[in-house]
Amino acid sequence: MDELLEHFERTVERDQRIEPRDWMPEGYRKTLIRQIAQHAHSEIIGMQPEGAWITRAPSLRRKAILLAKVQDEAGHGLYLYAATETLGVDRSELTENLIEGKQKYSSIFNYPTPSFADVGVIGWLVDGAAICNQVPLCRTSYGPYARAMIRVCKEESFHQRQGYELLMTMMRGSKAQREMVQDSVNRWWWPSLMMFGPPDGDSPNTARSMAWRIKRHTNDELRQKFVDMSVPQAEKLGVTLPDPELKWNAEREHYDFGEPDWAELKRVISGDGACNAERVEHRRRAHEDGAWVREAALAHAAKKKGVAA
Ligand SMILES: [Fe+2]
Ligand SMILES: [Fe+2]
Repeated sequence: MDELLEHFERTVERDQRIEPRDWMPEGYRKTLIRQIAQHAHSEIIGMQPEGAWITRAPSLRRKAILLAKVQDEAGHGLYLYAATETLGVDRSELTENLIEGKQKYSSIFNYPTPSFADVGVIGWLVDGAAICNQVPLCRTSYGPYARAMIRVCKEESFHQRQGYELLMTMMRGSKAQREMVQDSVNRWWWPSLMMFGPPDGDSPNTARSMAWRIKRHTNDELRQKFVDMSVPQAEKLGVTLPDPELKWNAEREHYDFGEPDWAELKRVISGDGACNAERVEHRRRAHEDGAWVREAALAHAAKKKGVAA
C-alpha cells in the first residue's frame, strides 16, 4: 500500500499523468468524479440559455453559428462523461444525480437570456472565463481529463471569438443595439467573475486539489487573469464594465476590481437563482423523452450480437 501511494505521489510530482489503470487514493478518485461530473453537467445544462435563441436568431448565418456552438457543448459533455466512466462510474448514474439535484453544475447557467446580445456576451465572457479555468486543466494530473480538455479548449476559443464578433457587429449597428450589448454586459459581468468559485480563503478543497495537481491555480489567481484579459477587450468593444472600483494598479501590474456579491453566489448555487428549477426540469424532460432512443440502441446492439454469434 505504501509503495502504491509512493508511486502515485512520485508520478504526480514529476508532472506525469495518472491513468485509469493506475492505483490512486480514494479521495483523488472521488474529487475527480465530482469535478468532472460537475463540469460535464455544466456543458449540458449550458446548452439551454443560448439554445433558447436558435429559433429566433436574426439571420441564417447567426442561426448556423449558434447551432454549431450549442452542438459543441453537447460534445464537451460527452467527452467529459466518458472521462468520468474511466473512474468507474456510470453515465446514467450521473444524469440521475443531476436531475435529482445531488450534483451541481456551474451557477452561471441559472441566469436568464432575455436578449440576443446575451448570445454574444455569453460567448465573450462566459466562454472566456471557461477558457481561463480550462486551459490549465490541459495539464491536470488525470490523463483522460487532461486529454479531453485539449479539444474542449480549442472549441471554447472559437466560441469566445464568435461571441466577440457578434458584439462587434452589434456595436457597429444602431443605438438600440449598442444599448442591448451594454445592458447584457451589465447583467453578465459579475456572474462571470463568480464562475471562478468563492475567494481562496473560503475554498477549503483548493489546497488538496493543488497538491494532487488536479487544480493548477487558485480561484483568485484565475479570476485576476480573467479581469486582466477582459478589460482591454471591453475598451476595444466600446462598452463599460459595471464596476466603479475597476482600475489599473501599476505597482501590482494587474487591474484592481470590486468584490463580487458572494451571498448571491451562495443563493444561486443552493437553488435560488432565476432559472434553477427551469433548467433541471428541462433536462429531466429531455432525458425522459430520449428513453426510446436508449432502448432502441440497446435492442439494436443485442440483435447485432445475436447475429454475430
Ligand atoms: Fe464547452
Ligand atoms: Fe463553449
